[in-house]
Amino acid sequence: MAARLRCDEAPAWVGLQEHWDINGRAFDLRCAFAADPNRFATFSQQAPQVFADLSKNRIDLAVQALLLRLARECGLEAHRDAMFAGEPINTTENRAVKHWLLRSPRGASADPDAKLVHSTLDAMLDYAERIRADAAITDVVNIGIGGSDLGPQMAVTALHDFVSPGKRFHFVSNVDGHELAAVLTQVQPASTLFLIASKTFTTLETMTNARSARGWFEAQGGSNIARHFAALTTNVAEAGKFGIETTFGFWDWVGGRYSMWSAIGLPIAIAIGAAGFRQLLSGAHEMDLHFAGAALEGNLPARLGLLDVWNRNFLGFTSRSIAPYHSALRRLPAYLQQLEMESNGKRVDLQGRPLAFGTAPVLWGEPGTNGQHAYFQMLHQGTDVVPVEFIAAKRASHTLAGHHRLLLANALAQAQALMQGRPDAGGHRDFPGNRPSTFLLLDQLTPASLGALVALHEHRVFVSGSLWGINSFDQWGVELGKVLAADIAGRLISGDLAGLDGSTAGLVRGLHPSH
Ligand code: F6P
Repeated sequence: MAARLRCDEAPAWVGLQEHWDINGRAFDLRCAFAADPNRFATFSQQAPQVFADLSKNRIDLAVQALLLRLARECGLEAHRDAMFAGEPINTTENRAVKHWLLRSPRGASADPDAKLVHSTLDAMLDYAERIRADAAITDVVNIGIGGSDLGPQMAVTALHDFVSPGKRFHFVSNVDGHELAAVLTQVQPASTLFLIASKTFTTLETMTNARSARGWFEAQGGSNIARHFAALTTNVAEAGKFGIETTFGFWDWVGGRYSMWSAIGLPIAIAIGAAGFRQLLSGAHEMDLHFAGAALEGNLPARLGLLDVWNRNFLGFTSRSIAPYHSALRRLPAYLQQLEMESNGKRVDLQGRPLAFGTAPVLWGEPGTNGQHAYFQMLHQGTDVVPVEFIAAKRASHTLAGHHRLLLANALAQAQALMQGRPDAGGHRDFPGNRPSTFLLLDQLTPASLGALVALHEHRVFVSGSLWGINSFDQWGVELGKVLAADIAGRLISGDLAGLDGSTAGLVRGLHPSH
């Protein structure tokens, strides 16, 4: 793999800094629109399944040109091509990054794993159809966490209108027993399918929940584990030891947060059917082709990723608010949190050198219009500027007259208010305006458009991570807490406080049963 320049080593970085100092600080969106009647056309584009309006961001043609130069100087295209060629770009784990292969149509890829991907997909979809046809199974309980929970949960929620009636879906992720206990009060062993979803099949939360679910199943008189438990994992051997016979595998080149297209997507396939799942994959594949093939100037994941770098490193925004104006997308902010913050929440580059610039922002948000009556006050008049990403669908899937027009009007109005403000209203009524936002528009929320929307975000995270020179595909930052929790779990039994800091010792003492 050719050595790549990190963004702050590239000549265009200096150009961006100069541009920021001279023009960037004083940039005003209202003046930019007044000066350029084509601004909307220049900074918006139709990509597969997703229309994007970037024009309400604090960018101009000079910034865009410099960002594109930066991407080229940093070897973004070569890095992207290396991912699509199956090279081991996850260097800290020496793994390829091939989630895109999971949605590549049969026969379209020469990758050596393509055949295996399709035979596994066929088997999983065949199983999904059998479960759909099995009226005796009324409840599907997915037990998994992180990437083994958020993707399936987000997609099953988002595609509610495509879910055939007759089955209920439950998602248990937390080791907090309240979650599993609440689900177990709603289901019967004879009519429940437990899916144990874990890439590693070692994750504390998932294995604890899986053991408790199996214990409950047996205590209730359930005996046919083969019928009522299936595993979705790369660790088929461990699933076997657990006593599970039905296993759908995937591979180490699928990161957990990139795994909803793999066997981890089984709950989605049971919910929307094999044909629906294939549409989800095909929407994502359309976006893959766009990212892999379009020139950077008209490449939406590249344009969004570059905007993310501009917003983070020059405007200094430390957070981005996700505002889905579609209540079925209510789990999307949580999904994107893992995707972006676990991928790009890194402080050293690929060589292990500390970075002198910021990386992943905090992502957060709630569906509109609810957010408007909660935290939008801060977005409009607070002291910090937070770029907002609106996501809406042109057409609703319900027939409630008038609702959708009001929903869309509110999304547009919020974006307009953030930008235009009302600076002369006086004191407390002043809105400063000039606050940036991006608007993503789907024609309708369908399996295909959801697939494209998620793949768009995967690739935009790739772009910013690539320019920052970090490894977006590892997650060493989750390890320390796991080790310490294992130690503290022992101390909560023994009461041993030796070697603990004062605060942790005080809390362990307070939580010990003897207290
Ligand atoms: O939180 C760390 C993490 O490894 C995530 O990356 C992953 O999605 C999650 O835990 C669950 O891991 P597994 O699928 O192996 O149970």
